[in-house]
Amino acid sequence: MEKTLVLIKPDAFARHHAGDIIKRYESEGFRILAMKLLKMDERLASIHYAEHIGRPYYHDLVGFMTSGPLIAMVLEGEDAIARVRKINGKTNPKDAEEGTIRKQFATSGRRNAVHASDSPESAAREIAIFFNQTEIYDGTYHVEADD
Ligand code: PPS
Repeated sequence: MEKTLVLIKPDAFARHHAGDIIKRYESEGFRILAMKLLKMDERLASIHYAEHIGRPYYHDLVGFMTSGPLIAMVLEGEDAIARVRKINGKTNPKDAEEGTIRKQFATSGRRNAVHASDSPESAAREIAIFFNQTEIYDGTYHVEADD
């Protein structure tokens, strides 16, 4: 089992697509271990997107990611890192395959609806940026008895 960090970006949140996106991950069999609504500030953006500092798109990326609330969540599943990125689709919706979240909900390479970790190292790093250990469920799901 693998964990990955997903962000539902400000565009998708503002357009009321959060529920559809969460439903998609659940229907693909991923389990939600943590979730929160927050507004990213420039400091948090510079930590999360540290490897992109200095790139030509960095300023636009941070401006967009700090423009409104987003949802951060930890998903767990088999091969979660690669599978979630496949379900998300390519960065730009013009290149994203049919059936992907970005094909359906993204409107540009910047307003592209979702982010997901791209490696086990980045998943561990990104999960720790957004969540304390106490905020991450241990994954032992059970169903309440009917009585
Ligand atoms: S990816 O998904 O990491 O392979 O995407 P990549 O193409 O490397 O882009 C890295 C992140 O930068 C965002 N991006 C942009 N933001 C604003 N404006 C422009 N032009 C732009 N180009 C790329 C892209 O959405 C990636 O963000 P995340 O959150 O990692 O998906």
